Amino acid sequence: GKAGPLAGKRILITAGPTHEPIDPVRYIANRSSGRQGFAIAEAAAAMGADVQLISGPVHLPTPPGMTRIDVETAREMAAAVDATLPADIAILVAAVADWRTADAAEQKIKKTGGALPVLQLAENPDILAGLARDARRPALLVGFAAETENVIEHAQAKLARKGCDWIVANDVSGDVMGGSENAVHIVTADGVESWSNLPKDQVARKLMEKIADVIR
Ligand code: C5P
Repeated sequence: GKAGPLAGKRILITAGPTHEPIDPVRYIANRSSGRQGFAIAEAAAAMGADVQLISGPVHLPTPPGMTRIDVETAREMAAAVDATLPADIAILVAAVADWRTADAAEQKIKKTGGALPVLQLAENPDILAGLARDARRPALLVGFAAETENVIEHAQAKLARKGCDWIVANDVSGDVMGGSENAVHIVTADGVESWSNLPKDQVARKLMEKIADVIR
């Protein structure tokens, strides 16, 4: 096994966006690049953890020393999380699509003479909330929250609603999504810790150090 403060710890991390098919050539997506999640996975592996990285569609190489599982949709991500449990720690960084199309078309949707297609949406499973209720709930369950306003208030509400232990909240009103820096607030039952704007790899290291401090 590996050495380091997280040696012997199995850590499940989700990262990236999900793609929800509309038809064989189109999908619903979001601006997540996967960079923050991949940086966290890299930092965790460097600290000796057994990292299981479940990634949506991204353009990033796999950091050294981990297992990566690639998925496309929210439902595939939920199934991969289920298949990867148990874990000591789960950090759900993925920007999972809230909705998918109720039924993706089997053939490419064609333009018709004026009538616009209507996309019927269905709600995706909430992987984080589901994991919080699962009998195999990891001892430390960390969620992320991308907010454009009232960041801390929304994160505190999310912590309670989802049943996780920490929410890492960031303000995405600027160009955080896809960018290289992140200003985050760590929201827990004990209070709020705010970090200044840092490169995503430093956010990752600080977060994994904080996790190593509480996981013994
Ligand atoms: O509700 P919201 O999408 O803002 O919550 C964000 C947090 O919940 C993130 O940790 C994200 O990975 C997780 N999430 C999830 N499954 C969803 C939606 C969000 O795991 N369907």
